[in-house]
Amino acid sequence: MSNTPYKLSNAPLIAEQQIKNRLESLAQELKACDFDVILSALTGSYMFAADISRKIAKPALKIYFIKASSYGDSTQSSGKVQISGLEKLDIKGKRILLVDDILDTGNTMFALVQAIAEYGPTSIKTCVLLNKESRRTVDFHADFVGFEIEDKFVVGYGLDYADEYRTLPEIWTLEKL
Ligand code: IMP
Ligand code: MG
Repeated sequence: MSNTPYKLSNAPLIAEQQIKNRLESLAQELKACDFDVILSALTGSYMFAADISRKIAKPALKIYFIKASSYGDSTQSSGKVQISGLEKLDIKGKRILLVDDILDTGNTMFALVQAIAEYGPTSIKTCVLLNKESRRTVDFHADFVGFEIEDKFVVGYGLDYADEYRTLPEIWTLEKL
């Protein structure tokens, strides 16, 4: 049983098959770019990164996981982004694809791109499964977007509320009880 004061919406916002279909077309777009390294921002993007990387499927393509956190157990971002795991990676001179689950205020992706740039990659492109354009507070746009969504808090397919709901294969809206 969940201990959170929220419940799932009656039906998924994005069904499992819709996600699968979009991943096919997104992977074709990404395949056309010759990336050396996928950088996946844990924890929210673990499922998306696993699925999209296996669809790109190039032997020389590396995948690394870094940690970015800005959320406590709340549906509001704290605005401060903590990043770890970049220091030990070999990304100098590499073409990077940075992958995250969702672009909300933009704080996380903006901070990640700045932090990665310090390690001297050749290029950094960004890809998010979900984009909440209306929530943006920093001037940041992803190069690749899976789905545009409204200003609603969503969970599932890797996205969490207080670390719950991540394992659901669909995207759901979270509603107050
Ligand atoms: P931003 O820094 O405000 O853009 O927030 C990005 C991060 O906040 C994402 O990587 C998610 O981990 C989390 N986040 C933002 N919106 C949602 C949501 O609707 N559901 C779950 N997590 C979210
Ligand atoms: Mg995240």
